[in-house]
Amino acid sequence: MSDRTGNRTIERKQSHVDICLHGEVAFSGKTTGFEKLEFEHNALPEIAFSEVDLSTTFLGRKINAPLMISSMTGGYSEAATLNQRLAEAAERFGIPLGVGSMRQALENSSYRESFAIVRKYAPSVQIFANIGAPEVAKGLTDNEIAIMLDLLEADGLIVHLNAAQELFQPEGNTDFSHFLDRLAIITAKISVPVIAKEVGCGISAAAALKLLEAGVKVIDVAGAGGISWQKVEEIRYTREFGQEKRFSLPALDELLNWGVPTAQCLFDISELKNKYPDFSEIEIIASGGIHSGIDIAKSLALGAQLAASARYILKALHEGALEETIETWLNDLRAVMFLTGSAKTEELRCKRLIIKP
Ligand SMILES: Cc1cc2nc3c(=O)[nH]c(=O)nc-3n(C[C@H](O)[C@H](O)[C@H](O)COP(=O)(O)O)c2cc1C
Repeated sequence: MSDRTGNRTIERKQSHVDICLHGEVAFSGKTTGFEKLEFEHNALPEIAFSEVDLSTTFLGRKINAPLMISSMTGGYSEAATLNQRLAEAAERFGIPLGVGSMRQALENSSYRESFAIVRKYAPSVQIFANIGAPEVAKGLTDNEIAIMLDLLEADGLIVHLNAAQELFQPEGNTDFSHFLDRLAIITAKISVPVIAKEVGCGISAAAALKLLEAGVKVIDVAGAGGISWQKVEEIRYTREFGQEKRFSLPALDELLNWGVPTAQCLFDISELKNKYPDFSEIEIIASGGIHSGIDIAKSLALGAQLAASARYILKALHEGALEETIETWLNDLRAVMFLTGSAKTEELRCKRLIIKP
């Protein structure tokens, strides 16, 4: 994610894709929490299935379904193909899309096309630029911010918070000092909204509050229960340094599975909207382990505006089943909306979730 220089960055971004597709990177013993919840059945839906309308809004624009393709890649030649395919799917389904960290685009102009291609193939949907918290903490110039936004004609800037990933990354940058102050300067300066997201350890209510006070408009929780980026980086570390130990065995297990589950983040951050009138308009993205339309439906009922997915989308793309996968997820969502009597996504947001017996 956060990129430093040249070949090392390219190697990292390529191996992230490879490890996410083929490595053992799921949390062990920790889940998103969605599986513990179910909707109360409505025996009287009083709507026709054909009436179910998945469209909603995100940051003031209509989108065709409450789903987003999460930030993944860019910055090396093969990434252009991945980004093109993701962009084509986003355009076809009329849903937003994020690109991977753009540090490489700032350091090396040769790979800018691998990001810019997204706008070419997704001319009408919202596209979000992406940069890591360590780069924000170090300080981004106005010119660097302009390069990222202009390359994509971006609808917003995603800043990813990835302390645990950087901690495990062999070449990680673990200096997050001054981040909030520098973030506040950016949110005050740029004309598009800033989204703060984690990458799989989740955002607590306390952290979300600080981010909102710094001017962030959307929180993407990217909670625990999907992919553990600590595990991804531990695989890279072991490839580089063999079995050299950094942590005691019991601590390693806990650190590799560190984070707040996705459903818990949604529950806690939604409460903030009720508690702080100033933040009642903020939007929440549910991500971290989303892999069906049932997860999307539960996300909305827990207060998210939409749900986002990275790894399962990448897997579907790799298996040649990207569009089919998205289509089935949307059908799952239509089924839940019908069975809860929700013709519109707004109605689903008020439906009751119960804890499974
Ligand atoms: C191959 C890959 C590369 C990623 N690179 C980035 C990145 O550059 N910036 C970022 O914010 N998140 C990145 N992510 C994290 C995802 O956007 C997402 O937050 C995380 O994987 C959790 O969602 P998931 O369980 O649906 O995968 C990446 C994910 C994958 C699978």
